[in-house]
Amino acid sequence: METSNKPITILLLLLLSFFHLSKADVIFDPPDLLTINCGSSTNFSTPDGRNWIGDTNTKLLSVSRGSVLATALTQSTILGPYTSARLSFSNFTYSIFNLTAGPMFLRLFFFSTSYQNNFNRSKAVFSVKAGPYTLFQRFNVSLDADSVNDPARSNILFREYCINLHERQNLNITFIPSSTGSYAFINGIEIVSMPSYLYYTDPNVDIHGLPKLVGGGTYPIETILALETKYRLRLGDRNIPAAEDTGMLRTWDVHDEYISNPGVESLDIDNTTKLNFSMTPNYTAPDQVYRSLASMGHNESVNMGFNLTWQLPVDPGFTYVLRLHFCQLNPMVIGSGDQIFLIFIQDHLVEDMVDIFNWGDKQKGVPVVRDYVVIIRDNQKKANLSVKLHPHDKSMIKDAQLNAIELFKISDTTGNLAVPNPDPRIQATEISHENSSKKRRGTTKTLAAVVVAVSGVVLLSSIIAFFIIKLKKNVAYNNGSNKKDGTSRGGGSSSLPTDLCRHFTIAEIVEATNNFDEVFVVGVGGFGNVYKGYIGDSTPVAIKRLKPGSQQGLNEFMNEIEMLSQLRHLHLVSLIGYCYESNEMILVYDFMDRGTLRDHLYGTDNPPLSWKQRLQICIGAARGLHYLHTGTKQMIIHRDVKSTNILLDEKWVAKVSDFGLSRIGPTGSSMTHVSTQVKGSVGYLDPDYYKRQRLTEKSDVYSYGVVLLEVLCGRQPLLRMVERQQASLVDWAKHRYEKGFLGEIVDPALKDQIAPHCLRKFGEVALSCLHEDGTQRPSMNDVVGVLEFVMQLQLQDGANVNAVSESGEDYENSTTEDMFSSSHSSVNVSDYSNSSGLNTTSYASKESERLLEPVFSEIKDPKGR
Ligand SMILES: *[C@@H]1O[C@H](CO)[C@@H](O)[C@H](O)[C@H]1NC(C)=O
Ligand SMILES: *[C@@H]1O[C@H](CO)[C@@H](O)[C@H](O)[C@H]1NC(C)=O
Ligand SMILES: *[C@@H]1O[C@H](CO)[C@@H](O)[C@H](O)[C@H]1NC(C)=O
Ligand SMILES: *[C@@H]1O[C@H](CO)[C@@H](O)[C@H](O)[C@H]1NC(C)=O
Ligand SMILES: *[C@@H]1O[C@H](CO)[C@@H](O)[C@H](O)[C@H]1NC(C)=O
Ligand SMILES: *[C@@H]1O[C@H](CO)[C@@H](O)[C@H](O)[C@H]1NC(C)=O
Ligand SMILES: *[C@@H]1O[C@H](CO)[C@@H](O)[C@H](O)[C@H]1NC(C)=O
Ligand SMILES: *[C@@H]1O[C@H](CO)[C@@H](O)[C@H](O)[C@H]1NC(C)=O
Ligand SMILES: *[C@@H]1O[C@H](CO)[C@@H](O)[C@H](O)[C@H]1NC(C)=O
Ligand SMILES: *[C@@H]1O[C@H](CO)[C@@H](O)[C@H](O)[C@H]1NC(C)=O
Ligand SMILES: *[C@@H]1O[C@H](CO)[C@@H](O)[C@H](O)[C@H]1NC(C)=O
Repeated sequence: METSNKPITILLLLLLSFFHLSKADVIFDPPDLLTINCGSSTNFSTPDGRNWIGDTNTKLLSVSRGSVLATALTQSTILGPYTSARLSFSNFTYSIFNLTAGPMFLRLFFFSTSYQNNFNRSKAVFSVKAGPYTLFQRFNVSLDADSVNDPARSNILFREYCINLHERQNLNITFIPSSTGSYAFINGIEIVSMPSYLYYTDPNVDIHGLPKLVGGGTYPIETILALETKYRLRLGDRNIPAAEDTGMLRTWDVHDEYISNPGVESLDIDNTTKLNFSMTPNYTAPDQVYRSLASMGHNESVNMGFNLTWQLPVDPGFTYVLRLHFCQLNPMVIGSGDQIFLIFIQDHLVEDMVDIFNWGDKQKGVPVVRDYVVIIRDNQKKANLSVKLHPHDKSMIKDAQLNAIELFKISDTTGNLAVPNPDPRIQATEISHENSSKKRRGTTKTLAAVVVAVSGVVLLSSIIAFFIIKLKKNVAYNNGSNKKDGTSRGGGSSSLPTDLCRHFTIAEIVEATNNFDEVFVVGVGGFGNVYKGYIGDSTPVAIKRLKPGSQQGLNEFMNEIEMLSQLRHLHLVSLIGYCYESNEMILVYDFMDRGTLRDHLYGTDNPPLSWKQRLQICIGAARGLHYLHTGTKQMIIHRDVKSTNILLDEKWVAKVSDFGLSRIGPTGSSMTHVSTQVKGSVGYLDPDYYKRQRLTEKSDVYSYGVVLLEVLCGRQPLLRMVERQQASLVDWAKHRYEKGFLGEIVDPALKDQIAPHCLRKFGEVALSCLHEDGTQRPSMNDVVGVLEFVMQLQLQDGANVNAVSESGEDYENSTTEDMFSSSHSSVNVSDYSNSSGLNTTSYASKESERLLEPVFSEIKDPKGR
């Protein structure tokens, strides 16, 4: 069984080799740090800074007999220990040896899916105990995973706990199936020591240093208690990944789901003042946490009229410890009393005079934390814990601010942290309220560093694909003013651009799809179904119906409408209209007769496209992307370029589709990127973007480069079962290209169609798009230029092609050495353009030189942008 999962793991490893791990801010070096890949013999690293160790080949732990190893039957869309699990229909225990006494994080990772040999997803129901603590009680994993209702989570569950060992000892973690017929499983376990008094209370601290009990008194966090992390939120625009923590691999999520009113985020404030960690140790949180904050805004009269509020969903019947992080770096503040505000927790006034400057010993740049303990009574089904800030009326600056929030659930008197399962019946009626999903997402969200669209899950986009547009102007611009009747949902629809695309009523959609008849379903995905329907007389349209009630879905829905309704371009799919009423989110596109580009490259019975057709499609798609990047007032970054998001109409015209993830690019002239959580599809994700979480249009260029290789080679970007070296198309193509044998991996269906110069040029432009360093990649405009040039070469030379010989040797009479001499390349270019007399106006010769430099040259381009 162990060997069977190797190819997948190797794929994962390969994927990871893109990323360079760095632990920037390791301030605390944990004595124990063990990250276990359960049910596997494989060690690997993930970009979050974790080094996973297979549990079958380490002496650091033992697992009781009776459990088995098995491979997941679906592939996780998130990088991690999710290809294999340890499972059993009876109790099993992990004993982790010789752990250092003191507090530690215990982290558990689950991937809810079916596993080999009859481990059905819905049968995973079990309890988990760690030492004396109960972490899960008859926990139905699939039920919980389904209640999360967030496609980006893709069935990954993550939990973090704090527990204490009182002496150097072994820790037993026991998995107990709930009943006969149910089984227990685990994919990953992590143990990381933490400093003694990071969250637990120092017994020597004076009374003012004790956590305050909301309602009166104090409440020390004693080492007998276990904690479960519910939220760790930094009040900035992107999460801080585990690798950038102070050494304990904590992730700091974004807070925007939990803030109730429009707070103002200030980012990277004052990066010159060195923080003075005299009030709290420097491992408390990474510097970045204290250099970004949320505040109320600049209109002080407005600020006096509201509370800056966060609402955190919690499980009733438990006590919680809330930690607030502050740091005064506001340039307006120069002394005591300049900025004073109040704090309410659960509507109790807990601080009536917060002066961060004073708290920091009358200095700026001194991080401080305050802990509060809140009891949430068990007299309600759902509860929110609220934090409200309000400016003091004596304050010179009428504003309040906060840098970060951490919230932990405290174990009860029996050592229990578990909650009852969500009740599926309740859920069905409440799902649209989203509470249950938010609750779970708190600590798990950032795990989704890579949101992938793999296989089934992903479909959402490929799906739309089939269904695209034929802009019927009278339809598209029909103003829906008469539709603003009582059936429209309030809030969101007011901001929808009804003037730019048509608003369909639910009745029209129901009619077009025969009440969502399954017969009309042309695609199924994580976000819902896609139907083929007919509007009016007989115009075929693709109707994408998003699952109701998903916040993620709502965001992407709005995003797609906003983006697409402003864009009209031959090479972009257009939106005909949308429907947003009766709790439905529906998008209507022209129907694209020929489906996705991928469907014409591999994996289907479609006849192969000719090389000229392929080039034409690549040029079209590149033009569409070029338009997105430069053709509109604000740059638009697509963020999910892939062969399933390039659709073909009946005339084989390529159209870029699926704008659900698109972002407006940097706006101010000084900005060159947007920071954002990394999203995209596995196999297409720009490693530079992943590494730095800085989004630029060059990430689209990278993904587009992957598409070029797919077009050339007629295979998927990542393949599971092949020889390791060949699993990643990008790596494989780079390797073959370097050796001068790119011809070897060309789609056999293209044999004898490609002129050798074309192949070479095409390979060059594809690989330059895939440059590790985003700034070294060409713009889409450059790409369009080169591809047009390739097309011209092809048309010219195509008549006598036979040089891509069976041996795979790329070029007649050329040696590897020749091919990588950059001067030679440049000369060749001018040779071509001169000898052929081609008009290459769209392709300035300076550009061509730059592009033609060997992709792997170590020499930095002095003209590099
Ligand atoms: C963190 O604080 C400790 C103790 O105050 C100090 O020894 C260490 O150098 C600091 N580390 C960094 C990276 O500032
Ligand atoms: C995996 O890592 C563990 C602990 O570092 C080591 O003992 C083991 O030899 C490694 N296994 C492989 C296959 O590299
Ligand atoms: C499994 O563990 C539970 C709880 O510790 C215990 O009650 C039960 O008897 C165990 N089952 C077996 C078969 O050992
Ligand atoms: C635990 O540590 C002790 C002392 O370092 C050592 O003798 C013992 O073999 C260790 N036990 C295991 C199971 O590794
Ligand atoms: C899992 O069980 C459910 C119902 O018990 C069944 O419908 C489904 O087909 C099973 N899945 C697999 C993969 O066996
Ligand atoms: C667990 O949840 C699944 C739904 O995901 C359900 O089919 C199954 O019956 C539940 N199992 C138990 C024991 O409640
Ligand atoms: C841990 O479990 C092992 C067997 O799995 C058992 O021998 C040992 O006594 C347990 N230790 C503790 C502290 O419960
Ligand atoms: C500090 O911020 C300024 C402006 O935002 C930037 O130019 C500079 O590079 C930053 N310095 C560091 C050390 O990050
Ligand atoms: C940091 O703060 C402490 C206590 O207020 C003070 O004694 C120390 O001088 C400060 N350090 C710096 C570098 O400002
Ligand atoms: C602040 O808001 C109030 C009420 O909305 C408005 O009347 C006032 O003009 C605003 N002041 C500034 C400086 O924007
Ligand atoms: C802020 O919240 C507190 C506590 O709930 C409340 O008493 C107060 O009226 C609120 N202030 C405003 C302006 O809403």
